[in-house]
Amino acid sequence: MDTIITRRRALGLGAATIGGTLLYAANSRVAADAAVKTPWEWKELPPESIQERAYASAWAKVGCMYGVLEAVLGTLGDKYGAPYNTFPVDATVYGSGGIGGIGSLCGTVNAAGMLFGLFAKSQEDMFALCGEMSLWYEKAPLPVYKPKDPKHQIPDVTSVSGSNLCHVSSTRWANASGQKLMTPQHFERCNRLVVDAAVKIVSMLNEYSRGKMTYKEKLNAFSEGCQACHGPAGIKANVASSMSCNACHEDPH
Ligand code: HEC
Ligand code: HEC
Repeated sequence: MDTIITRRRALGLGAATIGGTLLYAANSRVAADAAVKTPWEWKELPPESIQERAYASAWAKVGCMYGVLEAVLGTLGDKYGAPYNTFPVDATVYGSGGIGGIGSLCGTVNAAGMLFGLFAKSQEDMFALCGEMSLWYEKAPLPVYKPKDPKHQIPDVTSVSGSNLCHVSSTRWANASGQKLMTPQHFERCNRLVVDAAVKIVSMLNEYSRGKMTYKEKLNAFSEGCQACHGPAGIKANVASSMSCNACHEDPH
């Protein structure tokens, strides 16, 4: 009973309604509002309007995934309240450094997927949007954004990652810029890239919600060639990936 009382107090439920564990369990269920079902309604934002917030949020946690989500959902939440302000953005710090510093999927691409998951009207659309974002990320020379008040100076150098992996993207930039990684300069680069990604995602969602989404990105010719046999419709059908194959493979044939 002791623990139940303590937990009830922690939840701000007075001791007067003590009725045992079952009642406690029932109460705790009604205490939380049900999450609003997706898809949520996308409200158009001018993409440039979130730039400074994305840069500041990315720095706040040195969090690339967090920076994107805080800027987009935070802006919508400030303007329109629920459901946008009900999303636990703090939970997305996990996406930093390619998922907890592992160097796998870049947090900005991860954030894009999360937002498409909230706003896309079908699973098919969500997959298509994720594919477009990933290929854009692989091919775009980044970072482009120049903060008004940069936290750190970095060489004015962009790099093309050729991969959606944090490791590959960061190392290509390190080589292009001559900077070391896991330094303030590295994070400055990534936090500027957060802004570019956030602008891209908001632009995509604006277009998508107007029913005018045009998918521009395609796998490169090298990868298309591989997919003809290794992709799902091919004779081997042993590869499930829409990443650029040449990030990791040469042609072994
Ligand atoms: C015309 C069909 C075809 C195309 C196109 C093709 N592959 Fe293959 N690939 C195969 C087959 C069949 C095998 C099985 C190995 C074998 O029997 O030679 C294979 C095997 C492989 C292997 C294992 C190879 C090894 O050395 O054991 C890799 C890796 C591979 N392919 C990568 C690629 C990549 C990367 C591309 C694109 C540049 C590509 N393949 C294009 C048919 C193809
Ligand atoms: C991020 C790096 C990466 C990317 C991108 C990637 N691969 Fe791979 N791929 C690997 C690794 C690592 C293996 C495992 C190799 C092994 O077991 O020897 C592998 C295995 C394979 C194999 C099986 C080889 C075998 O021994 O049977 C094929 C075929 C293949 N990849 C094709 C592709 C194609 C086609 C694409 C693009 C759509 C692609 N890969 C994208 C890293 C990658």
